[in-house]
Amino acid sequence: MLKSTNCGELRLAHAGQTVTLAGWVHRRRDHGALIFLDLRDRSGIVQMTCDAQTAPAAHAVLNGARIEYVIQVTGAVRPRPAGLANPNLPTGEIEILVESAQILNEARTPPFYINEDSDVDEALRLKYRYLDLRRPAMQHNIVLRHQVVKLMRDYMDAQGFIEIETPMLIKTTPEGARDYVVPSRVHPGEFYALPQSPQQLKQLLMVAGYERYFQIARCFRDEDLRADRQPEFTQLDVEMSFVDREDVMGAIEPLYIRIIETLGRKPIMQKPFPVLTYAEAMAKYGSDKPDLRFGMEITDLSDIVADATFGVFAGALAAGGQVKGIRAPGAAGFSRKQLDDLGEQAKRQGAKGLVWIAYREDGIKSSAAKYLAEAELAGIGERLAATAGDLVLIVADADRAVVAKSLGDLRLTLGAQLGQVRSDVHALCWVVEFPLLEWSAEAGRWTAMHHPFTSAMDEDWELLESDPGRVRAKAYDLVMDGWEVGGGSIRIHRRDRQQAMFRALGIGSEEAEEKFGHLLEAFEYGAPPHGGLATGIDRTVAILAGTTSIREVIAFPKTASATDLMFRSPSEVSPAQLRELHLAIVR
Ligand code: AMO
Repeated sequence: MLKSTNCGELRLAHAGQTVTLAGWVHRRRDHGALIFLDLRDRSGIVQMTCDAQTAPAAHAVLNGARIEYVIQVTGAVRPRPAGLANPNLPTGEIEILVESAQILNEARTPPFYINEDSDVDEALRLKYRYLDLRRPAMQHNIVLRHQVVKLMRDYMDAQGFIEIETPMLIKTTPEGARDYVVPSRVHPGEFYALPQSPQQLKQLLMVAGYERYFQIARCFRDEDLRADRQPEFTQLDVEMSFVDREDVMGAIEPLYIRIIETLGRKPIMQKPFPVLTYAEAMAKYGSDKPDLRFGMEITDLSDIVADATFGVFAGALAAGGQVKGIRAPGAAGFSRKQLDDLGEQAKRQGAKGLVWIAYREDGIKSSAAKYLAEAELAGIGERLAATAGDLVLIVADADRAVVAKSLGDLRLTLGAQLGQVRSDVHALCWVVEFPLLEWSAEAGRWTAMHHPFTSAMDEDWELLESDPGRVRAKAYDLVMDGWEVGGGSIRIHRRDRQQAMFRALGIGSEEAEEKFGHLLEAFEYGAPPHGGLATGIDRTVAILAGTTSIREVIAFPKTASATDLMFRSPSEVSPAQLRELHLAIVR
């Protein structure tokens, strides 16, 4: 080794020892005959002093050492002079008196500061990711990710799960996104697809008798990217045989408790995790991934305004819809502009408008004051427990989903803006009983809400043909601080049921045979009842690290337009490569 010790491990107890260190010049201060230099390696930072009097050769070397140069130094550990200790640095009580030094490699001036937490353009960070990753904050995230994955592996192993790798070059594995495809050289005109998840493979492992499987699995999905979505991401993928919903949830909940309690910085708000049905989550929070760190629940006002002559309310109710509202504590003083902005926001979520009622010290003001009776305004306030200073926002619509979505969205915005969201805890919950299918207007057919291998609830199978929209699934999501961190289901394990599901999805028997024949056939060879789930590791680590973008916890992420700025990929391939792959580019 080019070093005897790591920089960050040195303490007062090492005083008197001679050590050899190697790392990067983090900072330097030149006081003529004295050079002060902070040396950084992965373990941390230590201060060195080099005196031209006592070590002239080393001083000459370090005189030429610039920021981010790679150097090796030998010297004695000594306590810092009285009053000069740095309590903010783990090594702050000591320094190294340099005896000899050499430059191992020079460095160009980095395009951004590595030694301070300044705001750097993300494109620049991604182009020079290897420099960005040197920054202590990124290093912390990457190490945290390692710790989370290690804990997951150890935990799953201790619970009798075995890790099995599954192929990357495979066939379409529908999870609702587009596939990334890979052309075959040896089979002209044919393609592999990269797995959107190992879903079918893990089910086949259950047919194969492995009973408890897990994998730290890379998944590939060509879909619109956001802060919480990458084209390739990593799951803790799990599958179990002879289980019901509660068994799978019961296997994962203790793991997440352990991860948060050993590696997180905040306690869990409620244990065991609350379980909400999809219908409850949508009704109360307007979201299937409710952020339970705050209240501001969506409240039904339909009965209070049932007799109102106000056309907006009456029309919605007559059409079988709803009138619902939320209370924004302390927001009664919002300006006209703020209220208009909220109205625009609600419209973007499909609402036709937004009614506001401000409960002010000097009386009740409302955008619908002309249309609502005093008793109705007071009744609404009472239902929502509004006191002086509060603002109530109401959406009425024939479509309950629009009411949920628009109020759910306002709840999140106002919760954050009004400081309602607790930042000192993590709130986890399970959401269960998702609809099995959702109608896709775009595709003009029913699509699987989770994926096509998910089982209906036992009592709902009979509705599959007559009333597909009402069938509930044996599916569950794990939600953390308003993020969907995991999802899974009990699977279909019988051929006839799987075929019925494909039929419901408008997949004909020929197409089903062509795409999923292997799975249907496997179900004929003694497939055990099974189920599982997958949690997003990127999202889990991002929440623990306190960042809002999963790019901050991925060593080499892609941009929002799925490019790699360092490798400059995707990129063109040579004409020879195209020929070999039997491909021609049509622009
Ligand atoms: P699902 O599609 O719900 O389920 O994915 C499981 C979890 O993976 C994470 N995730 C993502 N993370 C980052 N970028 C993405 N593009 C992305 N997409 C999903 C989320 C999500 O909850 N095969 C099923 C699991 C099962 O049924 O067992 C599946 O993949 O945290």
